[in-house]
Amino acid sequence: MGPGGRMQPAKSSGPVKIAEPIVIKELSAATGVKATDILKKLLLSGTMATINSVIETSRAEEIMLEFDIVLEVASEQTAEDAIASQFAQRERKDPRPRSPVITILGHVDHGKTSLLDRIRKANVASGEAGGITQATSAFMVPVKAGDADRTLTFIDTPGHEAFTAMRSRGARITDIVVLVVDAVDGVMPQTIESINHAKAAGVPIVVALNKVDKPEASEKTFQRIYGQLAEHGLNTVPWGGDVEVVKTSALKDIGIQDLLDMLALVADMKGIEADWAGNAQGAVLEAQMEEGRGPVARILVQEGVLKKGDSVVIGRASGRIRDIVNDRGQRVTEAIPGTPCAISGLDELPDAGDKFFVVDSLKEAEQAANERRQAERLRELAAPKVTLDNILEHIGKDKAKELSLVVKADVQGSVETLKAMLPKISVGDLKVVVKHCAVGGINESDMLLAETTGAIVIGFNVTTNAKARALAESKKIDVRLYDVIYHISEDIEKALKGMLEPTVRIDVLGHAEVRQVFRISKVGAIAGCYVTDGTVERNAQIRVTRGGIVIEKDRRLEQLKRFKDDAKEVRSGNECGMKIVGYDDIQVGDVLECYKSVVVREGSDD
Ligand code: GTP
Ligand code: MG
Repeated sequence: MGPGGRMQPAKSSGPVKIAEPIVIKELSAATGVKATDILKKLLLSGTMATINSVIETSRAEEIMLEFDIVLEVASEQTAEDAIASQFAQRERKDPRPRSPVITILGHVDHGKTSLLDRIRKANVASGEAGGITQATSAFMVPVKAGDADRTLTFIDTPGHEAFTAMRSRGARITDIVVLVVDAVDGVMPQTIESINHAKAAGVPIVVALNKVDKPEASEKTFQRIYGQLAEHGLNTVPWGGDVEVVKTSALKDIGIQDLLDMLALVADMKGIEADWAGNAQGAVLEAQMEEGRGPVARILVQEGVLKKGDSVVIGRASGRIRDIVNDRGQRVTEAIPGTPCAISGLDELPDAGDKFFVVDSLKEAEQAANERRQAERLRELAAPKVTLDNILEHIGKDKAKELSLVVKADVQGSVETLKAMLPKISVGDLKVVVKHCAVGGINESDMLLAETTGAIVIGFNVTTNAKARALAESKKIDVRLYDVIYHISEDIEKALKGMLEPTVRIDVLGHAEVRQVFRISKVGAIAGCYVTDGTVERNAQIRVTRGGIVIEKDRRLEQLKRFKDDAKEVRSGNECGMKIVGYDDIQVGDVLECYKSVVVREGSDD
């Protein structure tokens, strides 16, 4: 072992200087504390590390305090940070209004796409109207609002998933949210999700009460919906609040101009400006590989004018812009603030939500991107996330007094119960805050909301879909699945008391998708499955899930077959046949979740 050979730590006068990211080897060298002693301390608190591991600054500080050493940590200033702060501090030479950026959110089928289509068609020269190819997931429309000509930029759905991805990376792109609500169906689960996302982003919301042409739509349904909105913290103008409501029909072309006028008004009140001079800056809406063009980033220009040939850094990617394609699929040579466009010429795929900066030289761009790549690698190894097991540490450290939860459940009744029950849990001045609670399986949007709000995800009689599982894994989000409602409150209470010993916990082993069902008389239903992740074990328990909701639990397998042979286990990527004891209602598309109920002994150290 190289560094840290001395027995006695250097008890020098004053703090020891060190720079982030803190590598254990370097920490040892700087302080004189043996690396093995540091590793031992980490191990005792449940972290496996090596001398080349990076540890969180706060952990390093804590550990060194035990050796009576105070650290003076120079926080990491990456090349990207330096560029970002240069941009933040630069003098704005030519501030002028830019096109406001509007995101449309709302429940499935409430008419988001139809409204956008209507807006676009109504405001594009008629000759072009039919043949527009929408080249980006965002578009800019010239509108007449009030009596002025101007443009508005709309971000098309993928809706709140993209939206949250932005937020979780700190990119603020949306100026205004349009919340589309069906004028008859009213507030639905995803409406609530959308409201929560918009609130978290802190941007003004304009409600589009859509489908007012429906025969059932009436003043009565409107009033009911204003009430529902108020329940979720949106006090509408008709109810004496300040959230504007515009009644629209995308189908019958009603209220579209009113909506545009309203958006222009809200934008004017916000005073949305950009610096039109200087290097361009913005954010990535999405990115993908395209044949012949390599990595292509669909971006929104927020400041400055982006030009062909500019050198850019976008997160881990860099390059010189080879071409700029606007929202109508046309090649252009520059893009002004507020413009959505697609750029190519990058060396790697950036992430949605990454910021981009134009810099003076390609070399500077490459260096910043390189640093980011290295930092990403190190950070992945270092950061411990909030889990129910370590919540107390986090609460103590961040001085936060809240445990945030994102909750999904099987039926409305469970949702109501959980909503009433969870916020009542408090231990001392530690409180539970439910960020989102709804019916349905756990999806990507839930994970992203959990990531941005630092929440733990709780599922009651539901399961996670494949994308959400992947996200939970990569972002280290704690997802807890339960099938007994009071176990949830018990666990949370215990977590807040720092004595979490769940009595029974569901440990998921793997999932299999039902691709075919063979009904055989006297035997019952045999499910022809494909194991999508993990392992299916012959002797483990099985839950049958449909659309993310658990419909049968605590079942056992009568048969597990791989081809013609009985199997003890079948791993991901393989097909198998399964027969569940006493259960024949299986359907194609069901997902069979294989799990173990782990009983954790009272007083055990789990
Ligand atoms: P997702 O993208 O699936 O979330 O749905 P969406 O919100 O984009 O809804 P979309 O625009 O696809 O519309 C859903 C259905 O509602 C379609 O059948 C539309 O024709 C219908 N619809 C949309 N707007 C109106 C409207 O103003 N009135 C009536 N009656 N129907 C509408
Ligand atoms: Mg749509």
